[in-house]
Amino acid sequence: MDKVNKIVDTDKNKMLTIAIMNSKGGSGKTTIATNLASYYAAQDLKTVMVDQDVQGSSVQWLKRRSEKSPIINTTVVFDQPTNYTRSWLARVPTGTQRVLIDTPAGIEVQQIENVAKRADIIIVPVLLSPIDSEAVGIFLRRLKNILSKKHEMTHLAVVANRVGQKTRSYKILETCLLNMKVPFIATLRDSQNYIQASEQGIGVHELKNRKITHDLLQWQPLLDWIELKESSSARYLETNMSSKIHSASGVCQTSVS
Ligand SMILES: Nc1ncnc2c1ncn2[C@@H]1O[C@H](COP(=O)(O)OP(=O)(O)OP(=O)(O)O)[C@@H](O)[C@H]1O
Ligand SMILES: [Mg+2]
Repeated sequence: MDKVNKIVDTDKNKMLTIAIMNSKGGSGKTTIATNLASYYAAQDLKTVMVDQDVQGSSVQWLKRRSEKSPIINTTVVFDQPTNYTRSWLARVPTGTQRVLIDTPAGIEVQQIENVAKRADIIIVPVLLSPIDSEAVGIFLRRLKNILSKKHEMTHLAVVANRVGQKTRSYKILETCLLNMKVPFIATLRDSQNYIQASEQGIGVHELKNRKITHDLLQWQPLLDWIELKESSSARYLETNMSSKIHSASGVCQTSVS
């Protein structure tokens, strides 16, 4: 396939581990993990998918992938012995450049800790319903607490997924993330292109015979941010870790007080 959107990183050989995480089910974790894997593989980067979900959706996606498509290796991790982080890492082939970790819904604190130990980047996809927004606020607060204690080098960002119009819920999420100092990196529309791509074991960047220009444009800020994560604008450490998080309970509340 044609190379799409050149990666701007100069140090492509460094292994970059990206975890996709949100305790809420159906927010788009697998969709983002598989689309990123497809994008990197299509860029000739040695890519590994780590599927931590017993549903095995990422593995199923890989099984649908044609042998002619750029190779994506996989490691499946359903169980969580205490040293499991080391064990899956040991199975990642030498020379791997991109690792995508697809995590399950309802992820527990211990598992978040284990993933955070290894992830350079955590992407949190979120839907725009009031329930999802409130849930992500609580999840992000928990995540930020974990990262600020032990894993300060992990970068964190949010992607809004399946967004139609930028409704009030969008504004509320935007404000909430601003208050929490969590970068709001990209907005992906609800599109049949994702369904079509998933059926073929590919991502939108590899999709042929569909109108994908708009989707590719929407992915670009996320792809750029990942590669430029060391830059000042994206540096999680630059956010004031001790800053007060607004609201005592849910932090992305849909009612304005
Ligand atoms: N942007 C999108 N446009 C259209 N459909 C989407 C989009 N993102 C996700 N979907 C669809 O929504 C459903 C849930 O997405 P996905 O499986 O990626 O979520 P998940 O967070 O991995 O779910 P789970 O928590 O069950 O693992 C899937 O059927 C997927 O194809
Ligand atoms: Mg999933």
